[in-house]
Amino acid sequence: MTTPNSTSPPRRPPTLSLYQLLDPEVLANPYPLYARLRTESPVYWDPYLHAWVVTRYADVVTVLHHFSANRTPTPEQFAALGLAELGPVSQMMVRQMLFMDAPDHTRLRGLASMAFTPARVEALRSHIQEIMDRLLEPLLSAGRLDVIADLAAPLPAIVTAEMLGVPTRDSDQLKSWSADFAEVLGNFQHNPDRASRTLKCVEEMSSYFRAAIQQMKTEPREGLINALMTAEIDGDRLTEEEIIANSIVTMVGGQETTTNLIGNGVLALLRHPDQLDRLRSDLSLIPSAVEELLRFESPSQHTARIAPQDTELGGKKIRKGQAVIAVMGAGNRDPERFPDPDRLDIARKDNRHLAFGWASHFCFGAPLARIEGQIALEAIVRLADLALESGPLVWRDNLGLRGLMTLPVTFGQGLAPVCNQPRIEPVTSGCPFHGAA
Ligand code: HEM
Repeated sequence: MTTPNSTSPPRRPPTLSLYQLLDPEVLANPYPLYARLRTESPVYWDPYLHAWVVTRYADVVTVLHHFSANRTPTPEQFAALGLAELGPVSQMMVRQMLFMDAPDHTRLRGLASMAFTPARVEALRSHIQEIMDRLLEPLLSAGRLDVIADLAAPLPAIVTAEMLGVPTRDSDQLKSWSADFAEVLGNFQHNPDRASRTLKCVEEMSSYFRAAIQQMKTEPREGLINALMTAEIDGDRLTEEEIIANSIVTMVGGQETTTNLIGNGVLALLRHPDQLDRLRSDLSLIPSAVEELLRFESPSQHTARIAPQDTELGGKKIRKGQAVIAVMGAGNRDPERFPDPDRLDIARKDNRHLAFGWASHFCFGAPLARIEGQIALEAIVRLADLALESGPLVWRDNLGLRGLMTLPVTFGQGLAPVCNQPRIEPVTSGCPFHGAA
């Protein structure tokens, strides 16, 4: 038996927490922390978060497949926590498909999917290309741009407005609501100063969509809102509150994440010039590059679930009702699933990453996000002499939604030489949702 004495090494502080992401250095590169979690304690009780943290690919899949998504606090639970003022936020969130289990989730997603078929989204491709061209064209002579502010933020905001069927002139407003609301979705820590802002944001978004629904009753405009209003399965229709809540989740889900895909993707390519050159020399790799960038720097790093019953995972006993954080960003770097996972390989085969989640809640907007990512990346990598402007990179202090505040780049005149023809179809006018432009 050993007795502690003054020469014993000090006990290591319990630093193995996702809260370390609050440290800007860890936030800038969370992968060593994830690797430590995966090897030292892949199913880990995080004492600070009071939740299990799951980091292995196979365990993330299990959690997303079998655990409950019904995790957002009810108004009563908020009140019990002394946060009664957040009741209206909760009332709206419990109606969002993201926080539901079957059969409620199946019903909602089924009705919403009628509005959002992959074929319908694919038909938007040429229109999205047109939006991208419009954004890029006036910037070409300047020789520098901020990938985030000039392209990665406005592209999804405009596409989202069109997808919903609201005027594109409202896209700045949609962007600003979405950024505010993403702070609630992406962070663990409750910030009392943010509560009133969140409440105001939810009230404004709700009245905006309520007014849009009223207007569409007399002047129908094609898009997701109208499709949600008319979707019907065996006489079942969505209520107005459900349409509002799910228009909001689709609007928020489609913006911050897609902005981060484009920003993180361009940064990763600039940090791996061999892969940038490879992509330029073969643009047919664009779809595969987008998948690899989604894996390598996942825009949505983790999500949460609740244990539906007492269960065992990775040798740990998880009790019914306990919260579990599934870290997709860590599963996507799991060497047991991806050979050489920290290497960026834009032609990686067998790349079934977790960036869009898994199973019944698999990202509803994935086909649209992929198209936006492909079009934006192709346009950006074709800029000649693309280079990162010097200066520090600042990551958004959102622990779940990984993305940069700004990404200033410089470029020369003209296009980088490419060895094959552009892969994307030539631009045609008009929007498949709304007819001629
Ligand atoms: C690169 C871009 C995107 C990423 C990385 C992403 C990521 C995700 C992830 C990880 C989930 C599952 C969350 C969970 O299981 O808890 C999800 C669900 C969802 N996403 Fe996305 N998303 C992206 C783009 C979009 C777009 C463009 C839209 C809208 C058109 C969208 C709408 C949704 C919705 C509505 C859900 C909830 C689905 C459900 O609960 O059944 N997302 N997304």
